[in-house]
Amino acid sequence: MSVNTVSLAAYLIAALLFIRALAGLSRHETAVAGNYFGIAGMGVALAATVLLAAHDGISALGVVLLVLAVLGGASVGLWRARVVAMTQMPELIALFHSFVGLAAVLVGWDGYLSVERHPLGPAASVLRVEGTYGIHHAEVFIGVFIGAVTFTGSIIAFLKLSARIKSAPLMLPARNQLNLGALAVFVGLTVWFIAHPALLPLVIVTLIALVLGLHLVASIGGGDMPVVVSMLNSYSGWAAAASGFLLNNDLLIVTGALVGSSGAYLSYIMCEAMNRSFISVIAGGFGIEAPSGAAQDMGEHREVSVAETAELLADAGSVIIAPGYGMAVAQAQHGVAELTRKLRDRGVTVRFAIHPVAGRLPGHMNVLLAEAKVPYDIVLEMDEINDDFPATDVVLVIGANDTVNPAAMEDPGSPIAGMPVLHVWEAKQVIVFKRSMASGYAGVPNPLFYRENAAMLFGDAKDRVEDLLRAI
Ligand code: TAP
Repeated sequence: MSVNTVSLAAYLIAALLFIRALAGLSRHETAVAGNYFGIAGMGVALAATVLLAAHDGISALGVVLLVLAVLGGASVGLWRARVVAMTQMPELIALFHSFVGLAAVLVGWDGYLSVERHPLGPAASVLRVEGTYGIHHAEVFIGVFIGAVTFTGSIIAFLKLSARIKSAPLMLPARNQLNLGALAVFVGLTVWFIAHPALLPLVIVTLIALVLGLHLVASIGGGDMPVVVSMLNSYSGWAAAASGFLLNNDLLIVTGALVGSSGAYLSYIMCEAMNRSFISVIAGGFGIEAPSGAAQDMGEHREVSVAETAELLADAGSVIIAPGYGMAVAQAQHGVAELTRKLRDRGVTVRFAIHPVAGRLPGHMNVLLAEAKVPYDIVLEMDEINDDFPATDVVLVIGANDTVNPAAMEDPGSPIAGMPVLHVWEAKQVIVFKRSMASGYAGVPNPLFYRENAAMLFGDAKDRVEDLLRAI
């Protein structure tokens, strides 16, 4: 059997393993197995690629570079994956996407330098004989464009998610025209490059795409960042598929398409869940008006003590807990699980209300609560529980903010207007666990904190929950 046949078979097996991985990751019971399928697929893919390179007569220097790259990349990847806190996962993923984008740009430029730059050279001649020389120009150009947009877009997403820059949207006056103009120039340049594959259009498109990626993501506000991350995930998949065409690597095309389409679908369902227009998010906030930004006087907030909260809980028949990012930061989930057990032992009905984008990654709260052994059947999705708040005695909001903000429903000028939220304020009493009156991820003030039936229990969520456990 030839090496080519073996590697083709290995690629097919790897592609099937990747599909099994995606299927496994869709449910938390099968997620761990899904991860193992992914690791196995990547192992097979790497081994087959190295085998092919060896068969193609890679030079000694090439082998050294390959080994160094694999060892270097694998050690950095292992180290980051071990030390990263769950709450920093989206920013790490955004950074990884930027590498995929950069790789696609480099592969595209390498394609140009080894083929179009030498139109009479052997590589170009082979493509001419095959009749795919013109297609190669298009592959180079489109690959560089998608890669460069993904590269800078992901870096901006990383900076926003890690709070290194402000998450508020950049609202340039003619931003939609700028984006559409950049797309039109890209189409024009592609026609030019296919007709005359010269250096100049490639340089221009690289620069335009770098600026476009930066602008697209900078224009999107903090509250919509989850969708942006999954959208960049999709772009990075298409960038990888474009590289696959250039490198003539079927597995890269299949894998890129899997990532591209699953990322696009995830972005779509997240947009549905958050009542956002898919087109407006992928077009960098197209059609979204700048928020008025007018400061509102919301009145006085009320503080409550641990002892008063314990008394309130002692009299309650039904309690709903709405967890958010702050519970994850404080690592308060074990205390919250203990509190749940204690209250349930006393006959109180306790349930959890999970917002689709609570925390910083899809399923963030579900994972934390599962880790703390909270039974699955009392952990309900927003749509399943949102009508039950009026019949609830006490709601404990633990480190959540944007996901329980009534302004999303009541203030059409709010940057999060239209986003579905948990209707916690409809309960008889709401206790909010957080450290200060600061706003949440989207940077929007929260009128919930000033409602008559709401009170603030200030401090680190883990400490306050433990105090509460002692008081009960
Ligand atoms: P946020 O709106 O981010 O609010 C979290 C609150 O937790 C903050 O207001 C903070 O207030 C409090 N907090 C932080 N550390 C704390 C601690 N140690 N103890 C107690 N409280 C603490 O949370 P959310 O309601 O979960 O909303 C998530 C937001 O993130 C949404 O805007 C969403 O769009 C965005 N986002 C979500 C995702 C996904 S996919 N889930 C990804 C990226 C972004 P203090 O500082 O006053 O304590």
